[in-house]
Amino acid sequence: MLNTFASSISSLLDARADGHALPAGLYIRSDVFDADMDVFFRQHWICIGLECDVPEPGDAAVVDIGKTSLILLRDDDGEIRVMHNVCRHRGSRLLDPGKTIVSKLVCPYHTWTYELSGELSYAPHMGKSFDKECRSLKSVAFKSISGLIYVCLADNPPEDIAHLTQATAERLAPYDIRNAKVAFESDVIEHGNWKLTIENNRECYHCSANHPELCVSFVDLDFGFDPETLSPEDRAQAEEHLALYAERTRQWEADGYPSAAVERLADCETNFRTQRLIISGAGESQTPDATAASNKLLGTMTRKDLGDTHLWGINSWNHFMGDHAVVAIVIPLSADKTLVRTKWLVHKDAVEGVDYDLEKLTNVWLATTEQDADLVARSHAGVEDPAYVPGPYSPFSETNLDKFATWYIDRMRAHGY
Ligand code: FES
Ligand SMILES: [Fe+2]
Repeated sequence: MLNTFASSISSLLDARADGHALPAGLYIRSDVFDADMDVFFRQHWICIGLECDVPEPGDAAVVDIGKTSLILLRDDDGEIRVMHNVCRHRGSRLLDPGKTIVSKLVCPYHTWTYELSGELSYAPHMGKSFDKECRSLKSVAFKSISGLIYVCLADNPPEDIAHLTQATAERLAPYDIRNAKVAFESDVIEHGNWKLTIENNRECYHCSANHPELCVSFVDLDFGFDPETLSPEDRAQAEEHLALYAERTRQWEADGYPSAAVERLADCETNFRTQRLIISGAGESQTPDATAASNKLLGTMTRKDLGDTHLWGINSWNHFMGDHAVVAIVIPLSADKTLVRTKWLVHKDAVEGVDYDLEKLTNVWLATTEQDADLVARSHAGVEDPAYVPGPYSPFSETNLDKFATWYIDRMRAHGY
């Protein structure tokens, strides 16, 4: 029998049964956590923030991913840059985590000073032969996916990020996320492993029992249902809903808005899924009454009836609606702690209290995130219990989790585990 703590990581990967959740050790062991950080958060493309986190030259945001600290900034020419937050003298951190405004990057230790381009411009008492040219801050490979900043810390980043760029460029263009405004940000630490956070987000099996606020605007059947277990009335309703999807998707696409599902969830390096989803009720936005929270629509949007364009990445989930967007970024902190950073975006000129009400804007996802944090903590606590045995995923509502677990195992194998 598999010993959760004595087995090699490879035998834990072997022990995962198709269609089932992962063995406990893969969620709870610290050596697996270290492996995850290396494989998924260094060798794959991950989302760390947004162009609009740093709207003006000199704006900087520091994001820590494990032992790596990254500076996302806008330079004097208005270009986005991502650099390692490690001084080229003796390694000191230049900036603290969070957002700040800088004219230059001055190391607090011995005042080596870097331009916003990363070039070292001042290093006193280093002698005539000292060559500043080769001491620029190390830059990081990044891509802006319609304004979402993805980085990869590997020497050879996966090339299939091109599929994500391609699937989202036209679809996200009207929201103009690059030039949006971050209206609100929340950091929640979930007491669970990052894979439980991701699994929890990729199914809505738990929605009707746990998310009363979200269910006003979100259709929990969207990610699958078993027709056999529905009452005749509910089945008729579900079938009607599917027919409505086909019709709406056809209409939206005819109007020039890409809407059909595009997914690469297994057999790939960079996993993602996107689809334009129907919003229930008033149909406009994920708010307490499903009407728009902001009167100024995002980007060049002129319609409130274009649903919710959802997008999952390896460590993120997003909802783009006519009036606002919600972007969530997942950063693992330890085997049993995960930071979920959520940002609410509105049009850059939208004014709080005039164009939008902050409470209405944030209500649904603040509540949902808190409820999800509780679910993930419960799940992690149960997985830590020696009585835990991985159970089967629902073949209707949790197929995406099966794909996630399969992708996880494949990627670990591809990186030598
Ligand atoms: S470590 Fe930065 S100036 Fe010395
Ligand atoms: Fe949830």
